[in-house]
Amino acid sequence: MLRLTSEEEEMAGGARGKAAEKAMDLLIRYANALGAERFVETNNVAGVPGSAHQWLKDQYKNDGGDYRAVFCKFDLDANEVFDIPVMTGNACHLQGGMDPELWREQGYSPEAFANAESDEKNTAALNIRNLKTCTPYLAGNEPKFGEHCAWMESSAVVYCNSVLGARTNTEGRESTSAAMITHRIPDWGFHRDEFRLGDHLVEVDVRVNDIFEWGMLGYYIGEIVQEEIPVIDGAISNAGLIELKHFGAAAASSGGVEMYHLVGVTPEAPVREKAFGGKTIKSRIRYGADERRKTYENLNIRGKSTDVDYVMLGCPHAAIDQLETAARLLDGKKLNDGTALWIFTSRYVKTQAQAKGYVDVIKKAGGLVMTDTCSAIAQSIPKGTKVAALDSAKQTHYLPAFMGIEAWFGTTEDCINAALSGKWQGELS
Ligand code: F3S
Repeated sequence: MLRLTSEEEEMAGGARGKAAEKAMDLLIRYANALGAERFVETNNVAGVPGSAHQWLKDQYKNDGGDYRAVFCKFDLDANEVFDIPVMTGNACHLQGGMDPELWREQGYSPEAFANAESDEKNTAALNIRNLKTCTPYLAGNEPKFGEHCAWMESSAVVYCNSVLGARTNTEGRESTSAAMITHRIPDWGFHRDEFRLGDHLVEVDVRVNDIFEWGMLGYYIGEIVQEEIPVIDGAISNAGLIELKHFGAAAASSGGVEMYHLVGVTPEAPVREKAFGGKTIKSRIRYGADERRKTYENLNIRGKSTDVDYVMLGCPHAAIDQLETAARLLDGKKLNDGTALWIFTSRYVKTQAQAKGYVDVIKKAGGLVMTDTCSAIAQSIPKGTKVAALDSAKQTHYLPAFMGIEAWFGTTEDCINAALSGKWQGELS
């Protein structure tokens, strides 16, 4: 039975304005569907409020067909259109559909860009930060340990819960838009201690030490545990930000992992016992040489031709160190004629990379550094692409399925070599 505080009662009753009333109505329906007994307060919300392609706006042409109509009727599921108040808390916009400068290269029309630009102005006017990334934690929104958040984007959610020890479920557009207005989200799932304990033990006995290896490990584990919580122990090393970013994204794409524990690494797993918190271990999973090889073969199952015409890096959006690596590998070289290289990152990180000269080096070699989106989200690849090379297990999972292309998965170096030679030569050492 859901209980409301007096402030929540006021919002639901309309005393704090129409937007709060409708947002609360949506959240109450959501909480009741989940069986939540109360809400938690949140001041950290990451979603995609109000943004829409023109075709969605056209569905609301009788209501004005604009940002406001989409926010009220689509996001908040309301039956009328009203003013959205300026947000008073920490609200940010995750990745969108196109780069603000390189949208032509991505194949967008001037009309589509004008629509996106207009949405962005509306978002900014509501005091929502346009971080435009799947890695808000690399762009100025890093929640504190234990903080209740309401985030969308599976790779960000798993990072938020596991690495930062903050608390969020994988929210949707509707719940995040409503939470921006009310600062409430149902007290359910990962907001509660008992939901955050491990289910499965994964014992690793091959060395896992870079994004290639961490991506494969995540992909392997996600397929087995699906939406449950793995506790990983063993030969794990070098578990830095970039490695964990790739690990979590992979586990969230082959399965639906929203939280994991790495014994001795992540904050809620100083030791194995603490990660399980007395819960019975459901299964013991081993990741050794055989499992590693099978995962590599599985990820490369859609690679046939070794002629590579597109290399995509930056899924999840590249950190500054990854752009430094790409610039170092490309310095003074030229891409193969007929092979494109697009590297995706956030605006925040791109600005840093520009200051350090990495963007120029990549550009001189023939590559592009893009922001705000990625090939899978935008469903945008260079014209004529038949074969891609990727260093992200997550992108390898999605891109061939979305775009009907072949894809190779390998190390960042394998991918850059493919961009320079036009040939895939990656193999498992
Ligand atoms: Fe980010 Fe796109 Fe990957 S939005 S996590 S780069 S699929």
